[in-house]
Amino acid sequence: MRSNQPQTIYLSEYKVPAYLVDHVDLRFELFEDGARVHSTLSVRRNPESSEDGAPLELDGDSLKLESVALDGAGLSASDYEDRGDQLVIASVPEQFELSVVTWIEPRNNTRLEGLYMSSGMFCTQCEAEGFRCITFFPDRPDVMARFRTRIEADKSSYPVLLSNGNDVDRGELDDGRHFVTWEDPFPKPCYLFALVAGDLVEKRDTFRTCSGRDIDLRMYVEPRNAEKCDHAMDSLKRSMRWDEEVYGREYDLDIFMIVAVDDFNMGAMENKGLNIFNSSCVLASQDTATDAAFQRIEAIVAHEYFHNWSGNRVTCRDWFQLSLKEGFTVFRDSQFSADMGSPTVKRIEDVTLLRTAQFAEDAGPMAHPVRPASYMEISNFYTLTIYEKGAEVVSMIHNLLGPEMFRKGSDLYFERHDGQAVTTDDFVRAMEDASGRDLSQFRLWYEQAGTPVLNVSDEFDQERGLYRLTIEQHIPDTPGQSNKKPQHIPFAVGLLGSRGEALPLILEAGEEHAPAERVLELTEASHTFEFHGISERPVPSLLRHFSAPVRVNYPWSREQLLFLMSHDPDGFNRWDAGQRLAVDVIQSLVGAAKDAAVEPRLVTSYRHLICDSSLDQALVAKMLQLPSEAYLIELADNADVPAIHRARERVLKHLAISLRDELVACYRRNFESGDYEITPEAIARRSLRNTALAWLLMINDEEGRELAFRQFRGADNMTDRMGALRALVNSDYGEDRNLALEEFYQQFREDPQVIEQWFSVQAASERAGQLPQIHALLEHPAFDWKNPNKVRSVVGAFAGQNLAAFHSPDGSGYDFLAEQVCRLDDSNPQIAARLVTPLTRWRKFAPAYRQRMQAALERVRDKAGLSRDVYEVVHKSLAD
Ligand code: PHE
Ligand code: ZN
Repeated sequence: MRSNQPQTIYLSEYKVPAYLVDHVDLRFELFEDGARVHSTLSVRRNPESSEDGAPLELDGDSLKLESVALDGAGLSASDYEDRGDQLVIASVPEQFELSVVTWIEPRNNTRLEGLYMSSGMFCTQCEAEGFRCITFFPDRPDVMARFRTRIEADKSSYPVLLSNGNDVDRGELDDGRHFVTWEDPFPKPCYLFALVAGDLVEKRDTFRTCSGRDIDLRMYVEPRNAEKCDHAMDSLKRSMRWDEEVYGREYDLDIFMIVAVDDFNMGAMENKGLNIFNSSCVLASQDTATDAAFQRIEAIVAHEYFHNWSGNRVTCRDWFQLSLKEGFTVFRDSQFSADMGSPTVKRIEDVTLLRTAQFAEDAGPMAHPVRPASYMEISNFYTLTIYEKGAEVVSMIHNLLGPEMFRKGSDLYFERHDGQAVTTDDFVRAMEDASGRDLSQFRLWYEQAGTPVLNVSDEFDQERGLYRLTIEQHIPDTPGQSNKKPQHIPFAVGLLGSRGEALPLILEAGEEHAPAERVLELTEASHTFEFHGISERPVPSLLRHFSAPVRVNYPWSREQLLFLMSHDPDGFNRWDAGQRLAVDVIQSLVGAAKDAAVEPRLVTSYRHLICDSSLDQALVAKMLQLPSEAYLIELADNADVPAIHRARERVLKHLAISLRDELVACYRRNFESGDYEITPEAIARRSLRNTALAWLLMINDEEGRELAFRQFRGADNMTDRMGALRALVNSDYGEDRNLALEEFYQQFREDPQVIEQWFSVQAASERAGQLPQIHALLEHPAFDWKNPNKVRSVVGAFAGQNLAAFHSPDGSGYDFLAEQVCRLDDSNPQIAARLVTPLTRWRKFAPAYRQRMQAALERVRDKAGLSRDVYEVVHKSLAD
């Protein structure tokens, strides 16, 4: 059990390690009741450390120490101190070999950190600090060693034995056991160590690199998943090619392996040469995975693969630098996905996530900079800020430098720091050195938390033909940070004339060939830009492509937003204008009388979107999605969730009633009988017809109901089946809902990944996911508290997506979540700490809700033996 007063760790207290480990020799004896780990470390004093004669301190967690030997001589208990979380040897020579034997119990490991069991196989998860659950080791990323790993296990139960690098030896042992030895030639931090042992089928492919080397690609999955590997394998090959072409990065080992496991805390892990994936993020077939899942898998496979350079070859000095690898790698996988599909749609998806969830994080009690200055539990810092905002920060550097200079910068970064553990500052310096640009003020993006707010105002001087744009920035206070400095913000703008034409942006009178779009660089609290030669008041198009992760306030009229929706040359801003208009309309109806009118021009513009098939259908599919409840809550103060929910639903129903015939026509037009394809066009068609279906069922349309059933039963793919199921579940037809859910369950009961979707479509639905029904799902035989995906699909979907039910005025949703967090805290603290997030946002809500959320949080705080993970989150969110 962890101590009750967790320590805070500070970046400012970073010290280089006193000892380095050059080589690690591991031998795992795997048995049914546990595992014995023999570890031999080649250790030497770090010449860069000033701590002469420092004791050797190795981290450990939940280990049973069996023996310790130094240079071959066994140590007795008085020669070392086993502090539980550290093994300390007071005096050691300059250079030595340390051999340690530990006993661990993977079967009882429910935290899923270190070595654990998942559906009968052994697997590991070591990032961030899981290696210390395997053996005693300096568990910090700036200690990089070469690993040799021998795995021994029963051959019939565990025919496949994997670790990082290349397999260099294998053979038979007594009692039906066998062994395989792996050697990884690249020095790596221990968080990249991995081991897998199980009865798995192997799928093989090859990839020829740009220098002509053939790489063995292997996927290992449970036999029932053998047919679900193709998409991931294809995605892997596309990623490998793309990283060569766009970043000049070639793969470096002879083998690249992917393993799918069912029980996994996160999405996937980039272990050197042996990526381990949550099954839900790698396995797919047309019958079982939605379009969204196919796209997510492609992105995650790419993400983990790209880590081989941005993360593994060049790694983090310490965990404060986490965004060095994560922000950069998310940026890289976003570029990749944009290249593979529709760049505008990809941008819309990324920005939606950022604005809904990262902005909320940045405005809440856990707000932290992209490079945090302190933490208690590093697992709590795998956040949207580190990942998504971190990627935006890299993206801004890309925009400021341009693609060529950025590539020079990334080349320099990889070359200069290959094999090193470095900082975000090293990354920025490489970009500066390669481009000659000064990014000193830009570095504030790494240091200051909070989302900058840009207040924009304008003036038109008819006589002088001048249009003046004034932009003021301020960055709100966040926990521990106030009075922030202005940041360096790239702000892309355009101006539209009354016929929708793009006006030249003339900043110096008389300038010729002025561009129609400019990236204004904001560095001060206030800037005014004057545009010349403007003959009538233009409509400004601001923050094009979302050129910086900021909030923009400008008093657009509804007329102007409608104008931008159809004329802005920037597709992203066309979508954004539609979102702003819908937000404005919904907000004006929150708490309004039941018969208050819905803006008629919203209906007109949606009719145009639905009917004009000459528009980019992928963009239309996105434009038809109303802003989510979560986003509307993020934008609100004193949010009254049921009122927001009602206002949004009122707009949806009004649109559906007004556009009923157009929706049926849209459904039919987008219905196709041809072969299933995963192209942007085909995805857009499925999205459009499923949106039409969902809207029709919102208004209990009889024809819509028939179409939904026909599609549900006849679909040849999961996107359509799930689209129809979701529409039926969210309709008022209770019997149809139950019938469809039952049919679906019977059809897919053997497939845990589909059952997860079946859970979440119910838990996320106001109609099917009220508390008694949620309790019934938790009692369902397919539910499993030990499996994070199942927990997320019921508890997470309820608290994160079924917002009207979660924020029930009697507080029952909050009490429910508090109870489940306490229950999970004992078995899997990482998952518990993530699940509690919705409660931590209590300050956002109207007073009556606020008090009940706070009370629920206090109950979690008072639980006996609270983990460090949950302790940190709960205490920070209750602090004033
Ligand atoms: N490093 C992983 C990724 O982003 C995420 C992860 C973190 C997985 C911690 C497991 C544990 O690709
Ligand atoms: Zn990552």
